[in-house]
Amino acid sequence: MKYLSNSDIETVDIGKRLGLILSRGDVVALSGVLGSGKTWFTKGIGLGVGVDPDEVIVSPSFSIVNEYEGRCLLYHMDLYRLDSYSDIISAGLDDYFNDQSVVVVEWPERCPDMLPSGYINVRIEILGENERSLEINSDDPDFLKKLTDSIL
Ligand SMILES: Nc1ncnc2c1ncn2[C@@H]1O[C@H](COP(=O)(O)OP(=O)(O)O)[C@@H](O)[C@H]1O
Ligand SMILES: [Mg+2]
Repeated sequence: MKYLSNSDIETVDIGKRLGLILSRGDVVALSGVLGSGKTWFTKGIGLGVGVDPDEVIVSPSFSIVNEYEGRCLLYHMDLYRLDSYSDIISAGLDDYFNDQSVVVVEWPERCPDMLPSGYINVRIEILGENERSLEINSDDPDFLKKLTDSIL
């Protein structure tokens, strides 16, 4: 499924609509270059997952993972500064992938082996100063049905 965004606010809104249909155990991998909008999209996911709108979702670049509480726990990871699977293991990041939490991962290509099967892949591309294309895919048929039903 492909969506077009014309502003950061629209990207938040698409993220929010995705967040609304996420449930415990879902993992969202966000691909796209620096400045494409991964962190803005995550702000939207947070709103959809029920994180208090007053709580600001910021890039976790300096902490690798931030934790928020909504309908369930939301972990926001940024793997930009990690460069090997052993870094991931030593940071204990694999523990965050469990059936109780939603995990959003920026720079998932740093650790393709860590992603569970059926994860949700969002690819953001820069089309212009304020235009982005967002493509949402998954191998999980249950998720795909929810996505189609949600007229996202
Ligand atoms: N349509 C859009 N969607 C998302 N961000 C946009 C859009 N148009 C412009 N921007 C800007 O692009 C930047 C995206 O930043 P950020 O979400 O931190 O990117 P990333 O996490 O991918 O590095 C922000 O400065 C934002 O205001
Ligand atoms: Mg970011």
